[in-house]
Amino acid sequence: MAGKIIITIDGWSACGKSTLAKQLALKLGYLYVDSGAMYRSITLYFLRNHVDWTDTNEVKDALKNIILEFIVNPKTKQSEIFLNGENVEYLIRDLIVAEKVSDIAAIREVREFAVAQQQKIGAQKGIVMDGRDIGTTVFPGAEVKIFMVAGSAIRVERRFKELFEKNPNISLSEIKTNLEMRDYIDSHREISPLRKAKDAIELDNTNLSEKEQFDFALKLVNAKLV
Ligand code: DC
Repeated sequence: MAGKIIITIDGWSACGKSTLAKQLALKLGYLYVDSGAMYRSITLYFLRNHVDWTDTNEVKDALKNIILEFIVNPKTKQSEIFLNGENVEYLIRDLIVAEKVSDIAAIREVREFAVAQQQKIGAQKGIVMDGRDIGTTVFPGAEVKIFMVAGSAIRVERRFKELFEKNPNISLSEIKTNLEMRDYIDSHREISPLRKAKDAIELDNTNLSEKEQFDFALKLVNAKLV
């Protein structure tokens, strides 16, 4: 059996990347890393500390004060993100963070900070990481690269279901606007924009069940593990 590999899952917002990544990690006994959670946590820090992110020096200083860690929750067996020792896994899903995260993720210093940590975490392989630039910039040599897409309506509906549980005041139109805005900024930014890597396999899950999507991905992985 081959050694451990790196699996990257990139794609548009709310396409189900993290659902698939978690399932694969669990099946393979790999580490799951949610790179978006890193950008969201940095955004939360900037918002809380009133960092003016248009000022490069302020950004550089703020980044010096940020420690991000992924720690496995023994109950759920899922890794959760900690910002300077505080579990922010749930706070960072808030729309307030989602509204600013793409602007902050477009900043060069922020990307350098996050990418360096992502590469360090993945150095041992045996990892599933999802995001926007994982197969293109973070791990261009990854053995399995998946690029996820799904129809707009289904993505809005899925994200609505997820967020409505925590915030019943949220509306479909707010979510649609946020997803469209993030997709636009994420795919048009100068540094590492969202792109399908040349060697990535596209997975359109508009009409797939979670099981079908998982089986498709597992086949790709198993083909690399034999
Ligand atoms: O995967 P997510 O929706 O939690 O990601 C939140 C934002 O973080 C996304 O809109 C853009 C940014 N991001 C990024 O720029 N690069 C990544 N690898 C992951 C996320």
